[in-house]
Amino acid sequence: MDYKKIVAERIGLAAETEAEAIMRFIEIPPRPEMGDYAFPCFQLSKTLKKAPNVISAELAEKINKEGFEKVDALGPYLNFFVDKSVFTKETIEKILAEGDSYGSSEDGKGKNVTIDFSSPNIAKPFHVGHLFSTAIGNSLYRILSFEGYKCIGINHLGDWGTQFGKLIYAYKKWCDKEKLEKEPIKELLRIYVKFHDEAEKDPSLDDEARRYFKRLEDGSEEETELWNTFRELSLREFQKVYDLLGVKFDSNAGESFYSDKMDPVVEEIDSKGLLVTSNGAQVVMLDEYNMPPCIIKKADGATMYATRDLAAALYRKKNYDFYKSLYVVGMDQTLHFKQVFTTLKLMGHDWADDCRHIGFGLVRFSDKKLSTRRGDVIFLEDLLNESIEKTMEIINEKNPDLENKEEVSKKVGVGAMVFTYLKNGREKDIVFDWKEMLSFDGETGPYVQYSYARGKSILRKQDAIEGGADYSKLSSKEEFELIKTLEGFKEAINHSIDKFEPSVVTRYAVDVAKAFNKFYNAHKISGIEDSGLKNARLKMVEATCQVLKNALYLIGLEVVEKM
Ligand code: ARG
Repeated sequence: MDYKKIVAERIGLAAETEAEAIMRFIEIPPRPEMGDYAFPCFQLSKTLKKAPNVISAELAEKINKEGFEKVDALGPYLNFFVDKSVFTKETIEKILAEGDSYGSSEDGKGKNVTIDFSSPNIAKPFHVGHLFSTAIGNSLYRILSFEGYKCIGINHLGDWGTQFGKLIYAYKKWCDKEKLEKEPIKELLRIYVKFHDEAEKDPSLDDEARRYFKRLEDGSEEETELWNTFRELSLREFQKVYDLLGVKFDSNAGESFYSDKMDPVVEEIDSKGLLVTSNGAQVVMLDEYNMPPCIIKKADGATMYATRDLAAALYRKKNYDFYKSLYVVGMDQTLHFKQVFTTLKLMGHDWADDCRHIGFGLVRFSDKKLSTRRGDVIFLEDLLNESIEKTMEIINEKNPDLENKEEVSKKVGVGAMVFTYLKNGREKDIVFDWKEMLSFDGETGPYVQYSYARGKSILRKQDAIEGGADYSKLSSKEEFELIKTLEGFKEAINHSIDKFEPSVVTRYAVDVAKAFNKFYNAHKISGIEDSGLKNARLKMVEATCQVLKNALYLIGLEVVEKM
């Protein structure tokens, strides 16, 4: 039962207004004494030409109160108190009947959404910033798919550009083939850094590198083969991270995919009279929008990151006919995306308005040991493994006899990191702190997973007694708070979609865990002889576990039955 909708319909009927228009003004009051839903009547004072207090008093009289304990006027507010036993019964039964699909819908049916996320650079480490993009993108993918959208996850790999000329040169000159096999990215990074050091002393190296890249662009066999090797080796390493995270893509079309698709784009820009030569480079001027020009081709004719993004946007529109096209990329690229979207608009593509940059903040380290490793880059895979090891240590201390410790440490250790990334609004910076992240209490992944396992352990130890559940007996403050939170899942999902903010779902999961623990600390289940009460509580625990599982799934975490 969708109470918000019912409240809106009842008000609509009583006030002779469209329920649809009322729906978005309905609030959830901050304190239970103020009811479960509230409507601020000043929203109607214009149309009804009456003072808000008068409206609320009249509506309180007139409104159909079926299914509600009472409907009261409090100043300009109309407060609705739901009939708790009906609400409780309907909520729990709905959750248990819908199971893994509780909270899902067909809201996005027929709408395609492309999600460009993760997108690390070949031959470079998969670093902490890329986990930010990966975690947000993966979560948005799951949330939107859950609501019926068809998502296309795209890993826009950084696998093209002049740096590959440098890499080819460096490979020929300094590469240790054995090391390359063992630790490909570390070795590629080493020779890349060496190239820069050497090129500082001898700038002619840059010309060499440019020549190699030109050969690569022209399709020369030797260079293409090397490039392919770098790409394959890197992907193999990235795959380890994706496996740990349980992340999949529908397309790995990276920048190189567009290497033969840029000419028509440049022609189109030119044919629309937008291409201007500036210092030898070909650019689109964006002064009017207070932005520096969008560079399409450098003086030497090489295409740019932006050129490839323009080609990619056109390709995606043509092939996926998207309703929205999301780019989950750090906020340091805000200007880049503004330039690309504005250029598309200038080219006459109004769908540029459906392209959205989903920005996020920086990752900082509170641990001195990590932050002082200057020059030495942090590999995400190492951090994930460290998190798994640290979780194992905690489990060995807390619950040494636990079965499949390995699997639990993996799900909890990896989950703890992902959770940290999705906990706050995405534009906020993250402070990476092991102790905080892995704590079993506080607003953490392990805390929510632990709450689930606690619920499951209750269900394993306690059997229902003969006779059904009597939901009217779940009448304590803690029980009703928990049920109300469980009922709010879809609402949280809707908010998270509105803002493309997985953190709304993350915080929701924390709220459920908190409400559950409050209930469990105040009430017991063992030893209850009243079958109606005991069975109702057990059903409520089962429903809680289900909702926790669904919410965690949406942010990319798995549950564990015991921990
Ligand atoms: N490879 C880029 C980086 O690591 C991110 C690419 C984002 N996606 C895009 N379509 N530009 O910074």
